[in-house]
Amino acid sequence: MENLLCTGCRREVDGGLWQARCPECGEPLEVGPPRGGSVLDGAPLLVRFANFLPRRALGLEGPAAPVLSLGEGNTPLLHLETIGERIGLPRLFVKVEGTNPTGSFKDRGSVAGVQRARALGFRAVGTVSTGNMASSMAAYGARAGMRAVVLVSASIPRAKLAPIAAYNPLLIGVEGDYGRLYHLSLELGPKLGIAFVNSDDPYRVEGQKTLALELWQQLRRQLPDAVVVPVSSGGHMAALLKGFKELHALGYTERVPRLIGVQAAGCAPIATAYQQGADTPAAWGEPRTIAKAIANPSPPSGRRLLQAAKNGAPLHFVTVTDEEIMAAYWRLAHEAGVFAQPDAAAPVAAAQKLAASGLLRPDETVVAILTGHGTKDLTPLESNAPVSLRTCTLDELPRVLERAL
Ligand SMILES: Cc1ncc(COP(=O)(O)O)c(C=O)c1O
Ligand SMILES: [Zn+2]
Repeated sequence: MENLLCTGCRREVDGGLWQARCPECGEPLEVGPPRGGSVLDGAPLLVRFANFLPRRALGLEGPAAPVLSLGEGNTPLLHLETIGERIGLPRLFVKVEGTNPTGSFKDRGSVAGVQRARALGFRAVGTVSTGNMASSMAAYGARAGMRAVVLVSASIPRAKLAPIAAYNPLLIGVEGDYGRLYHLSLELGPKLGIAFVNSDDPYRVEGQKTLALELWQQLRRQLPDAVVVPVSSGGHMAALLKGFKELHALGYTERVPRLIGVQAAGCAPIATAYQQGADTPAAWGEPRTIAKAIANPSPPSGRRLLQAAKNGAPLHFVTVTDEEIMAAYWRLAHEAGVFAQPDAAAPVAAAQKLAASGLLRPDETVVAILTGHGTKDLTPLESNAPVSLRTCTLDELPRVLERAL
């Protein structure tokens, strides 16, 4: 079995075991470089990009290999001409990850993580999450015929649990420090036969990196100048960097695009450490933002991203306020018909800010990753949605319409 590499100390670790972090330095492990080859059209995500994935570890060798899929990937890449013109980025695109089977980008990682767990003979998969990753893992566990275990914070509101509970996972609310729960799950998983596929698990990262490959494919083997992405644990941004770096190392592209990580001003441990030139994000304390899905106060892949930036990877980090996020959220829905959850609108808010400050230029091709669908978090609609409803009789209707148009 191919070994895993430590992203911190570069030590090799036995890839035949289920482990996500280096036993020596504690940093996340990663899968080694792929062989490369052609991209297949139309097949399930894992088959389409099999030449860029650890085929053997995922159990993808051989024509009869079972391939897990709920139809993930192949998400739209839309050119937002009107919004782009208005904010000074005529070549602004959005990658609409909300059209994935459970409504978020997490499905790309879940399909790879669960496929790997199944190939290793696990009967149960798990995750520590309160939102998108939880429903995604519960769905892919069900699809694979495996038990799914979802650990959430005991204080989570019941309404948030319903879309996870729909897939019938073993759902456990745990009291205590949520950041510790991530590490405890990784300790307990191998002992109890549960493959925990948390935000920066090495095989989840393999699945998430298909977004970089798919973008390159959709842009006809060209790269954008910049990709703007919301950041919480840091697993997703690390995956995009890995995907773009591998394309470059294999000789398919001449460069790696700039990756801009966006955090909410009310929970910005990585962006703050980046601005201060620190190696490790300091724990943030109580998050205060409407963008709850990107509010991890102790991001487990924060150090990895900061180190990559120090070592010359083209990574940048910015923050946006809740007001900026909500302005982008409504603008996307009203002016482009694209409904993204607040966290996913954050990169559009950041793109606007960076265009205004000149860090993104009008001639650049910029892709904002809209990580989750608007229906995944209805908080803004419940609290202050601008609903304008007129009422009239049947007789009045023609006149009301005439006047309103
Ligand atoms: C909608 C959305 N966007 C972005 C992220 C951030 O991803 P990561 O935790 O890998 O940084 C999350 C994480 O859950 C999310 O739910
Ligand atoms: Zn290490």
